[in-house]
Amino acid sequence: MRIFAISDLHTDFIENRNRLQQLSSLDYQGDALLVAGDIADDMRVISWTLKELRSRFSQVFYVPGNHELWVRNGDCDSIEKFRRVLGLCEELGVQTQPGRAGRYWVVPLFSWYTADYDEKKEADASSLEGWADFYFCKWPFRMGSVSDYFLRLNEPRIRRYDGPVLTLSHFLPRRELLPAVEKLSFKGLPLVAGAPGLDRQIRALNGAAHVFGHSHIAFDRVIEGVRYVHHPFHYPRHADKVKTPLKEVSRCVDKEEGRVA
Ligand SMILES: [Fe+2]
Ligand SMILES: [Fe+2]
Repeated sequence: MRIFAISDLHTDFIENRNRLQQLSSLDYQGDALLVAGDIADDMRVISWTLKELRSRFSQVFYVPGNHELWVRNGDCDSIEKFRRVLGLCEELGVQTQPGRAGRYWVVPLFSWYTADYDEKKEADASSLEGWADFYFCKWPFRMGSVSDYFLRLNEPRIRRYDGPVLTLSHFLPRRELLPAVEKLSFKGLPLVAGAPGLDRQIRALNGAAHVFGHSHIAFDRVIEGVRYVHHPFHYPRHADKVKTPLKEVSRCVDKEEGRVA
């Protein structure tokens, strides 16, 4: 079984739905896919996309991103939307709980960003004025830190597993996974990108590789013994950056461990 990574499918764009449908229906039937969030905000599109993926892969693991938690019609808040997305996954056989995939354990980690991810306080807060989460995410009254809420949900998953562990989250666990502010076109991004508490959970799990999403800046590097991989599907305007829609993570990990895949 091979294990592939993808994120940020943004299939609310028809161009991305068309690109997704070009993915082989035969080649991955024995494989697993880790989807690190940002499929869409419309439940019908999320459902369509997960069904498309589920029909192509033996197993699909997934964590919702920020776009999934947008609420536009006021019939629920973002936490209720999160629960609805997890419920949909259960119906479709998409895994949001830890599970085996071949000789690996895959542990999905839920998350939200915190401002302390911007370690050097170099981000430009004024550029966040149009940040859509601030308009479309509705948090329950007095819920406290959103990041802490999601990290707490992960706590029962932080345990020993009898095999190499692969983790996935939408948000970024370490500052090094994002370029310095002067190289970013969106100077406020470090304030809405990651959660350092996530990396503590990855380290406690002794993860071999971590798949993340959100930044749309491709990344694949080993830092202090963990391979961090971001392989975005991108918005249509950046589709030319996608040389291959999927990235195999299992082979990288096997190579590092000196094993033959
Ligand atoms: Fe995204
Ligand atoms: Fe995102």
